[in-house]
Amino acid sequence: MGTIPQEIIDRILERVDIVEVISEYVQLKRAGRSHKACCPFHNEKTASFVVSPDKQIYHCFGCGAGGNVLNFVMKYENLEFPDAVRKLALRAGVEIPVERGRQGEGPSLYSRIHEINKLAAAFFQNNLRSEKGRGALDYLRSRGIENQTLSDFRLGYALDDWEALRKYLESRKVPVDMVRKAGLSIESDKGRNDYDRFRNRVIFPIFDDRDNIVAFGGRVMDKALPKYINSPETPVYSKSNVLYGLNFSKRGIREKGYAILVEGYMDVVIPFQQGVKNVVATSGTALTPRQADILKRQASTAVLIFDADQAGEAASLRGLDILVEKGMGVRIAALPKGEDPDTFVRKFGREAFEEVAEKAKDLLDYKLELLLKKFGPRSVGTICDEMLPTISRVENAVVRSDYLTRLAEKLGIHEASLRYEIGKVKPDYSYHYASEARIEGSVRNYRSSEVHLLGMAITERKYFEKLDRELGLGMFKDPAVKRVMRSVGEMYAAGDGDINASKLSSRLEGDEQAKQAFMEGLAKADITEEKDRVLEDCILRVRKENRDEEIKILTIRLKEAQDSRDDAGVRDLADRINKLYKERAHRHA
Ligand code: GTP
Ligand code: MN
Repeated sequence: MGTIPQEIIDRILERVDIVEVISEYVQLKRAGRSHKACCPFHNEKTASFVVSPDKQIYHCFGCGAGGNVLNFVMKYENLEFPDAVRKLALRAGVEIPVERGRQGEGPSLYSRIHEINKLAAAFFQNNLRSEKGRGALDYLRSRGIENQTLSDFRLGYALDDWEALRKYLESRKVPVDMVRKAGLSIESDKGRNDYDRFRNRVIFPIFDDRDNIVAFGGRVMDKALPKYINSPETPVYSKSNVLYGLNFSKRGIREKGYAILVEGYMDVVIPFQQGVKNVVATSGTALTPRQADILKRQASTAVLIFDADQAGEAASLRGLDILVEKGMGVRIAALPKGEDPDTFVRKFGREAFEEVAEKAKDLLDYKLELLLKKFGPRSVGTICDEMLPTISRVENAVVRSDYLTRLAEKLGIHEASLRYEIGKVKPDYSYHYASEARIEGSVRNYRSSEVHLLGMAITERKYFEKLDRELGLGMFKDPAVKRVMRSVGEMYAAGDGDINASKLSSRLEGDEQAKQAFMEGLAKADITEEKDRVLEDCILRVRKENRDEEIKILTIRLKEAQDSRDDAGVRDLADRINKLYKERAHRHA
């Protein structure tokens, strides 16, 4: 295997998030800025495996395993370095240059599969022009596809035959196992020959954004089911990483400044043929974070075009939070009932379609309008439950604040109460960290900051003193943290140097919760860089938790004052609440 240039490896590391990757293998639990789990590399009951998103490393305090994301994948999947790099390269959308290879070595698996797919696509294209492809050609024509489009998109036809493609590829010296690896044939159970995956279907080659054919989609020409089949996941294809049509639409997307996101192959092909050159499709999957990343490289805004039924579903809009979270502008338009982009463009033409896209509404306006229509303006609670999670994902504080103001206005409620409610929205990182959604009652934020501070106080006396001075040990809310802090204080007072961790541990003997907090804190402190800054952050967070607690209490009292029409009380409480909010906003700036 040739060596992979360092620059390529660096690029992969820049684009891959260690937390995202590891959470696909291990159930991670958020703990402050880090994530924890039971170590997958040794047997344990308490979580000593820590992943740091800041440092993009992991470390197990139990068995000492540690390293970056590549190291993790190698170790977990038992892969050689170049194979781990390839795996992550695919995920990151980074292409590894075709190595010349050293003596006696052929091209990489990647480029071999690309090559095989290219041969297969040409074969499918030829079939379409042959006698046997007549029906398929008629079908595609009946769907309004012109010759130019056939060749632009390299549409084809898989013969009604169990081994036509495999035999063809064999004649081109492609080994059987490679045909299988490319996902084009399926292993037969009874020791018989592999059979073709795609049979009697029109074929849509799927390209990556560098025009390599990475997979295929095949559609039946009648009402049979399944309507579409697709290539399986292969070394070069992962369906969550590809947007159909992006290779064709990249330029159009850049020119227009936004991408039109549709669902199906035909919804790309037909509009494109009619001159709408900025369309891409998710091809039947819900939009994934990776697809959002890929899209974001081309445009800052996505315009989603739904059919009428889907657009009526608030649930389908929830998936769009992925885009919001990625910092993309999201606009939405609905097509008339019964139409999809393909049929709409054919019926009403390109201009009408582009007008729909141009007039698409901002996601939040759209969603709010939909909810108001569905539940009525009095269902404030329900509407907030749907709206606030989306708004909380908006990264830009100014934009977020503006949304809150507008939402409060439209619902006729106090902005302060909305701001209070949004504070309660649990950040749901399920898009990023799939496993986390499953974790119930995950550690409260305040606890995690407190534990972090505890760890730093144990490792350095100056931190303990700073905490004591600036925060006051009374500010800690977690009882276990408080108990450890007290012991720490006693030990500093008694000795003159550093704290001996094993001594502290023995002092805490019998207090499992305290021990747990102590270990956790040490682990955190250990992987903390820029300790001074983190300390400040944690102090702020603990203060914020205390302030939020106060706001909560004052808000309850405000409500009571309102109910009893105590105007002076209302004014006073509202003032105090506002002051706390201002303080909070200020702190965050
Ligand atoms: P046409 O009926 O050809 O217009 O297809 P469409 O693209 O309008 O299909 P539809 O809206 O039903 O589905 C949207 C996309 O979902 C398709 O383009 C496919 O990518 C995918 N899809 C639809 N049906 C199936 C299926 O049966 N299996 C799989 N794997 N994917 C499907
Ligand atoms: Mn359709």
